[in-house]
Amino acid sequence: MSSTENALKRLEDLGQKKALRFWEELSEEEKEAFAVQIEKADLSCLNARFDEGGQSMPKIAPIDVLKVDEIEEKSERWKEEGLAAIREGKAAAVLLAGGMGTRLGTDGPKGVFDIGITKPVFIFQRLIENLMDVVKEAGVYPDLYIMTSEKNHRETVDFLTEHEFFGYEGAHVFFFEQETAPATDFEGQILLEGKNRLATSPNGNGGWYPSLLKSEAGAHFKASPVEWLNVFAVDNVLQRILDPAFIGAVIEGKVNTGAKVIRKNAPDEGVGVLCLMDNKPGVVEYYELTEEMKSAKDENGEPLYNYGVILNYLFRREALEGALEKQLPFHRVKKKVPCLDEAGNPVKPEEPNGYKYELLVLDLIRELSTCLGYEVVREKEFAPIKNRTGKDSVESARELLKKNKIEV
Ligand code: UD1
Repeated sequence: MSSTENALKRLEDLGQKKALRFWEELSEEEKEAFAVQIEKADLSCLNARFDEGGQSMPKIAPIDVLKVDEIEEKSERWKEEGLAAIREGKAAAVLLAGGMGTRLGTDGPKGVFDIGITKPVFIFQRLIENLMDVVKEAGVYPDLYIMTSEKNHRETVDFLTEHEFFGYEGAHVFFFEQETAPATDFEGQILLEGKNRLATSPNGNGGWYPSLLKSEAGAHFKASPVEWLNVFAVDNVLQRILDPAFIGAVIEGKVNTGAKVIRKNAPDEGVGVLCLMDNKPGVVEYYELTEEMKSAKDENGEPLYNYGVILNYLFRREALEGALEKQLPFHRVKKKVPCLDEAGNPVKPEEPNGYKYELLVLDLIRELSTCLGYEVVREKEFAPIKNRTGKDSVESARELLKKNKIEV
């Protein structure tokens, strides 16, 4: 079967008739381009089941985490243990930078955004400067893997190469591309971006490990002695990356994962919540928190679900390998998806017109069964940039950087 026939069959088998409505109008070349895209897209979300009513919601309970004062007591020992692991090449960093930066209002990669006032301070630059702190302490350059998406790969690679990785040793920087997932209408039919193009977007940050393994960077990774992967977000310009004490604590805790957490500043703060789900550690993403979870209080009147994840996790490689066969759940979010109407004219919807499907890295916490929640001081390690102004913005991050004596 030719590649175009294969692609056609793949969509037909999935009952995706609508996406093929212009097929007969396409030239051979257009069909081929379409086939390449279909081949590359992760279509597994189309078979996913969704439990909108929440009947199969797990039993939620609060979780205990390591508090800042408990950490202080043991941090010197953990730090030495973590530094030893880094020096032996057992820890690497994974930057999740495949997101779209929609809230920030940029088309390009979020990391190329300049947040400086008196001088250029690019988000990528800030992250690498943070990572350099541990390079100086450990005396080695740990491997840094950077996940991009089809939409921002070229620009990310070019930007970092032009800036010579902001001083990071280039031989230790590896890029890999995540997969895309199609957007559908509310009936589950894939929307079209063009007559021979599915409307797709990055498939969430949860697929990073299989994507890494499949990539060229994966060949290097497979041959490396790495045992721990520190996965972190592109948007938190204050975070500690490969924090030795965090690594040491997780190693000593004999757990499969570690999650840095902060105390939430409001019930509806946009952070996932670390808790127990059917007696196992897990994270409920902020947009799936119930009102009950948001308002629950303990006997002292303190919020019961108060530990928010900052998207800085440590994963044991062996445990990730063990979970490879399992499919993480897709999360379905209503979105405004630019697409073609029935007649083939482009439309920019004013209201949500379909779903996007995402795998979330936080689901790995539940999948890997054991987790150490590790509290950090929010003013020192959490300055997320989600918006231009207001909450979690360029402005608020600049203020936090200044408080931490970092010039912008
Ligand atoms: C994220 C976390 C949330 C956490 C909060 C802290 C997830 C799903 N959500 O929320 O639990 O409390 O940060 O600030 O982890 N990304 C990709 N590919 C994608 C989508 C996203 O690489 O397809 C990357 C982004 O570039 C970014 C990170 O994942 O680095 C998080 O992005 P986003 O999905 O926007 O999550 P938030 O709403 O910021």
